[in-house]
Amino acid sequence: LKPPVRVAITGAAGQIGYSLIFRVASGEMLGPNQPVILHLIDLPFAMTALNGVVMEIQDCAFPLVQGIVATDNQQVGFKDVNYALLVGAKPRGPGMERGDLLKDNGKIFTETGKYINDHASRDIKVVVVGNPCNTNCLILANQIKDIPKENFTAMTRLDHNRAQHQLADKLGVHTSDIRKIAIFGNHSPTMVPYIDQMTAKNHKATVDQQWVTQTFIPTVQQRGAEIIKARKLSSAASAGNAAMNHITTWVNGTAEGDYTSMAIPSDGSYGVPKGLIFSFPVTVKNGKYSIVQGLPISPFYQGLLDKTIKELVDERNAVDHLLK
Ligand code: NAI
Repeated sequence: LKPPVRVAITGAAGQIGYSLIFRVASGEMLGPNQPVILHLIDLPFAMTALNGVVMEIQDCAFPLVQGIVATDNQQVGFKDVNYALLVGAKPRGPGMERGDLLKDNGKIFTETGKYINDHASRDIKVVVVGNPCNTNCLILANQIKDIPKENFTAMTRLDHNRAQHQLADKLGVHTSDIRKIAIFGNHSPTMVPYIDQMTAKNHKATVDQQWVTQTFIPTVQQRGAEIIKARKLSSAASAGNAAMNHITTWVNGTAEGDYTSMAIPSDGSYGVPKGLIFSFPVTVKNGKYSIVQGLPISPFYQGLLDKTIKELVDERNAVDHLLK
């Protein structure tokens, strides 16, 4: 066994937390040789519920769990942490404007950024799940002085996985046969599922454009709402699964000849303003991701990219005061 690593999960008493923590504890995220010390962080009012989660982890007798820190104190929560899955966020209440949501979450992620900068391990890898995740990540990364900016990412893997399933279903193949697809942009209804280079069973695969515009893209964009309608609860299990996938791929790499989707600081590729946290197709090797360059962008996709870029620029402008 390797020496243990510390994995922080915020919003640990919430729905996604409940689907995620036990799988991380079982070794599904970092592998069967990697012991973990779990750092479970939530707000003061949620400590009783979190204690219940801790009792359940104990009762699983997981061989790989070497310690549990459950706390509402972020200084303790992020101490020496190697991986952080930032799930906790303020949900959008009834009648709440997007601007207010950005502002309230801005406060949370400014504070968290300071604690991570001051207390976490210098090699920490962070994925922001709590919405609006791209701009929350931007605010967080802005607080970081001593850790490379590329260690701060946001999650679009759920959108990627959703797209993969829709395409596999349409083409009558298994999800694992679908390769070379990606999500560009914001984790929001403006996200852009890009499939012009798609392969199925290692052969170039196409689907008709009408299905793409009228069925595929709206289905991927609205899948979360559809699940809430069906379950009367949000898609916590698939979101937790995607957060784990995001970290696993970041650590273990992408398969040869394939790429994945991660929202990362833009370097200006594809005309995306530098610094925005934007989802790109990436390959990953030795724990480092690189944007897949040179994918052909049709006028159809350029139109969609322009919209999602504009939305993220508007979000950045709305939180400008937090980025000084
Ligand atoms: P939930 O409401 O069940 O749990 C959220 C938890 O976060 C609560 O226990 C709450 O007390 C805690 N929390 C709030 N602020 C916190 C803070 N400052 N520090 C620590 N903990 C804090 O919500 P659920 O279903 O677990 O979802 C969590 C977030 O994930 C939401 O923002 C949701 O929109 C987002 N999400 C993102 C997805 C993505 O694809 N990026 C997909 C699905 C959900």
